[in-house]
Amino acid sequence: MQKPYINNQLRIITIINNKGGVGKTTTAQNVGAAMATFSKTDKQVLIVDLDPQGSLTKSFGISLEKGSPTVGSFILSKEPLSQVIVNYNHSNIDILPANIGLIEDEEVIKDSSEFPFNLKKCLEKDPKKYDFVVIDCPPTLSALTKIALIACHRYYIPLQPEYLSYEGLRELIHYTNHISQSGSSIFLGGVFAVRFNPYANKKFSRELIEMAKKQLGDRFLTTYIRENSDLYKAQAQGKHIFDYNKASNGAIDYYNLTKEIILK
Ligand SMILES: Nc1ncnc2c1ncn2[C@@H]1O[C@H](COP(=O)(O)OP(=O)(O)OP(=O)(O)O)[C@@H](O)[C@H]1O
Ligand SMILES: [Mg+2]
Repeated sequence: MQKPYINNQLRIITIINNKGGVGKTTTAQNVGAAMATFSKTDKQVLIVDLDPQGSLTKSFGISLEKGSPTVGSFILSKEPLSQVIVNYNHSNIDILPANIGLIEDEEVIKDSSEFPFNLKKCLEKDPKKYDFVVIDCPPTLSALTKIALIACHRYYIPLQPEYLSYEGLRELIHYTNHISQSGSSIFLGGVFAVRFNPYANKKFSRELIEMAKKQLGDRFLTTYIRENSDLYKAQAQGKHIFDYNKASNGAIDYYNLTKEIILK
């Protein structure tokens, strides 16, 4: 059973899939941007890069100077959010950036007495307030992914309509159920199809989507994210899709997906 959100409550969502290159970062970037851009009132959004690859950080055009604090310093309570975040383009979007140094921080996080509640506790106690927090995970079921799951109210899974992705989805849900059963309730907000190409492997893709829908019921979201080159062109320019081309299919799809996420 999902607990309903209370109005005006901080919402933390995590984008997770242990399969690599399936669109987690692109989703975290553009769902976060849609939350910030299309709210009636100015909502403050924090997007957390929890991947040592730092792809989300780079997708927002952020290049960290050597020695700058990153997400690891925040999670290890060495720095408050205000000292680590990077604001995107004078907007209501802040990024909590990552780089390769997060690999070493992860070892310390894993061995700390707070684990796996580190990120949850740090977000709760930090004086800087947000309306939405979106967390991007690495493509592994690692300690970082675990703290992201424990910190969130709902987690969301991007699914490419391919056979191996579908098999991986079952394993992933099994893993998250296991964490839930060990005392920290985490809730699946939804699974959604990404990089959907209606012209390639049409029948096979649709069959897999039907199988996922049957398995998940209304946890399978109705919005599909179509394959759209503007999404990676935007990242190459360090922008989210709404700043790059708000009329693109990528912008339309991520706007619709965000509406579904917020309204559910
Ligand atoms: N709908 C889409 N259409 C076209 N390109 C896309 C789409 N979604 C993502 N991409 C591109 O695919 C690549 C992989 O996407 P992304 O980095 O979001 O995946 P990821 O799951 O975060 O990868 P990783 O597992 O390495 O963290 C990126 O170059 C991204 O721009
Ligand atoms: Mg990524």
